Amino acid sequence: MTAAVVTGVGAAIPPRVVTNDDLAGYLDTSDEWIRSRTGIASRRWVDPGMSTGDLAVAAGELALRSAGIDRVDAVVVATTTPDRLCPATAPEVATRLGMTGVSAHDVNAVCTGFLYGLASAVGLIAAGNAQTVLMIGAEAFSTILDPQDRSTAVIFADGAGAVVLRAGSPDEPGAVGPIVLGSDGSLSDLIQIPAGGSRQRSAGTLAPPEDHFFQMRGREVYRHAVERMAASAQEAMVKAGLSMADVDKFVPHQANNRISVAVGERLGLVPAQTVSNVDHMGNTAAASIGVLLAEASVDGELHAGERLLLTAFGGGLTWGATTLVWPALTAHMTVLPRPVSAVAV
Ligand code: UT7
Repeated sequence: MTAAVVTGVGAAIPPRVVTNDDLAGYLDTSDEWIRSRTGIASRRWVDPGMSTGDLAVAAGELALRSAGIDRVDAVVVATTTPDRLCPATAPEVATRLGMTGVSAHDVNAVCTGFLYGLASAVGLIAAGNAQTVLMIGAEAFSTILDPQDRSTAVIFADGAGAVVLRAGSPDEPGAVGPIVLGSDGSLSDLIQIPAGGSRQRSAGTLAPPEDHFFQMRGREVYRHAVERMAASAQEAMVKAGLSMADVDKFVPHQANNRISVAVGERLGLVPAQTVSNVDHMGNTAAASIGVLLAEASVDGELHAGERLLLTAFGGGLTWGATTLVWPALTAHMTVLPRPVSAVAV
């Protein structure tokens, strides 16, 4: 059976650091509240002029360099914040990476985007449609946040993380294991942007301004996130024919440190096994697992031969998990320069 094998990893983050105190300067919140409820101390937000596509191109370039290639057969971009509602962001990203002509499409599973994107890439390879795929989770999530909504503005952030996959064998290091995915559309209202889509447009009425921003019912989401991430992680290990004792490192979507800790505890993992960067990256939605893989690899926190367990949860609702043995590779990560338009102001 053909497997999809990770051969390169890269990440790109915006230059602008936003601290909790920066937010407390204009919102009714505090560094203490944000740290204790989320584990976040600072996050990166794009400056005006920088988009999801810009982050995706930079991360994609680094993942290609990490894999030692300059072209793939297909590009997948997982994002909640495409450069435009139409067309998809992936074709332009592919062209900017010098790959006009290749298969290119977007995936939207909000914070589960990285795992849904991975499944899409694995599927392209398994079906023989591609020998190599560049899968990029990328978000300029700050662009959809209501600046006055303290319940979301303190959590979400921007960045891009990318992996290169190639066709290979299931017993190779880097081979992506069975991917467990799920959804529950009856709870779609818990995480949403109400306006801007066909449901609102076809009503022929103007939506209130706040309906154009991202909205989340955090407390309810929290409960579902812990349950679904833990259950799908367990299922992914069973499908791979493994037990929790086989896990070396736990790489959860960086929703909130309390969620990562609660899921780790449910799975019987010890805190030292959990890899995290939410304290300085915030929740970068579809990008978070990719950014975390790249950063932890660059920092020497992930070692070749370690078995990783990945799990995520997001709007839809959606969730998923998978496992792989970390391959020997050199990951790359960069901080993008400020866009010219932001430097000018
Ligand atoms: O990425 C995947 C999808 N997203 C998630 O997984 C996020 C899941 N949810 C969460 O991480 C947490 O629910 C939050 C971090 C969003 C909120 O933490 P919480 O402990 O669930 O707080 P809460 O929503 O229950 O709010 C507690 C209180 C409320 O005040 P009252 O009603 O108790 O008076 C909120 O109004 O905290 C208030 N609050 C804040 N206070 C200061 C909400 N946001 C803030 C804030 N600063 N930023």
